[in-house]
Amino acid sequence: MKRYRMLINGEWVEAARGAFFPVYDPSTEEVTAEAPDAAAEDADRAVRAARAAFDTGPWPQTTAQERGRILLRLAERVRKGAAMLAEIESRNSGKPIVEAEFDVADVATCFEYYGGLATKVMGHVNPVPDNALSLSLREPVGVAAQIIPWNYPLLMAAWKLAPALAAGCTCVLKPAEQTPLTALELAQWFPEVGLPPGVVNIVTGFGETAGAPLVQHPDVNKVAFTGSAAVGKQIVKMAADTIKRVTLELGGKSPNIFFADADFEAAIDGALFGVFINQGEVCSAGSRILVEHPIYSRFVEAMTEKAKRIKLGPPLERETKMGPLVSREQYERVRSYQEIGKQEAKVASGGGRPAALARGYYVEPTIFYDAPNSARIAQEEIFGPVATVIPFADEKDAIRIANDTPYGLAAAVWSRDIFKAFRMVKALRAGVVWVNHMQPTFVEAPWGGYKQSGFGRELGPWGIEEYLETKQVHINLNEQPIGWY
Ligand code: NAI
Ligand code: MG
Repeated sequence: MKRYRMLINGEWVEAARGAFFPVYDPSTEEVTAEAPDAAAEDADRAVRAARAAFDTGPWPQTTAQERGRILLRLAERVRKGAAMLAEIESRNSGKPIVEAEFDVADVATCFEYYGGLATKVMGHVNPVPDNALSLSLREPVGVAAQIIPWNYPLLMAAWKLAPALAAGCTCVLKPAEQTPLTALELAQWFPEVGLPPGVVNIVTGFGETAGAPLVQHPDVNKVAFTGSAAVGKQIVKMAADTIKRVTLELGGKSPNIFFADADFEAAIDGALFGVFINQGEVCSAGSRILVEHPIYSRFVEAMTEKAKRIKLGPPLERETKMGPLVSREQYERVRSYQEIGKQEAKVASGGGRPAALARGYYVEPTIFYDAPNSARIAQEEIFGPVATVIPFADEKDAIRIANDTPYGLAAAVWSRDIFKAFRMVKALRAGVVWVNHMQPTFVEAPWGGYKQSGFGRELGPWGIEEYLETKQVHINLNEQPIGWY
């Protein structure tokens, strides 16, 4: 069992009070590692390190070119260590190794993208009518506290760190308590890629004890959070006292909408992929599957047929298409929604835990159908492999049902009729809309939600904007006094 330390001011340290928490392999339910159980004093130490690195150096003296090169070297280092990172990620989170490998490749791509973008941050000349030169300068927002979830542990770390560093911010990253390992592994390479001490600090621990003190800390300027809507609401309240900049990505209950004219084979695949990839532990999971009446019964049947053949098993086996859920807590949450679903709808497949797998937090891929959109399984984020299939009559009906949710992260539409598909794109209240696909995510394109799925955008040039302030500079060119008094 490996005992990890966390990174504060370039040093590998334990929590001040010396406590550790266990890290599990969800496929065996065994403890495989330990990480420091940080509390307020550790959060404070990390923030002070980030503050000093931002205010007095070395980060302000590091040019955009050099920051970019650091990110490019980090990307290269991730690619070299990809097999190790993917294995640890898969073992700790339960996600299939093949998916973990895709994640790690995306991590490297994210560092590359922002490595390139670091030198493309530009200001403006403002056309004011005065005899003056008016400028807008872009400056880093300062110290960023970044709190991330367990479903894409290293990828979420990259989505947070890469734009912040490109912008010139310093960071305190708090990984999820379930999955702290890959962020710590990544951090071992900071010295060799030239990242100075204190610029990125990693504090491991629980939300209330290690996360909340970061959000409340007066020396933190910005909080970036991905996780549950419940915690997102608390973060906004906690950040209010010190008027921190906040961005939130809070998941959803995303509709995946199938019209009768869609390519049927592709549609079935898209419905399953949309909701079952990564065990359904996906913020943008297409967990509400809306199907037009003429194909509804055939659709449920075909989905069920294919879902029954999904290969569940140990995440490190290459044929595995679905591993265990991340934790006992998440397993129990999903199991309870399976029971709720049985009261609210009909079961097409699954609904329990797989009999063949005695240990590990496995649940069956589950399909409920004939659910009203008002059902809890159609309104609440389950964050597991549970699909709710809902019939609809026509385009208007589809729009009404799709938008009838407090969330608005993502949506997808399947149709061969481009007029109808594009009308749907405009009508859907969601931050991401896919047509004839669901889930592909690219670092070049914006990511984030409408409504209670949060605010702010990650990735692309939008991602770096969230870490920048705008300073107006007015340079008077008149050599006389103002002459008013
Ligand atoms: P969570 O929202 O409690 O945890 C996410 C992160 O926030 C973790 O790093 C956690 O330590 C931290 N956190 C928790 N309480 C905090 C607090 N008071 N102050 C500061 N940081 C805090 O999510 P949890 O409990 O792991 O999962 C619950 C549900 O949240 C899931 O079933 C799912 O529906 C949703 N979720 C959504 C995610 C998304 O990608 N949008 C990711 C993870 C969970
Ligand atoms: Mg929680």
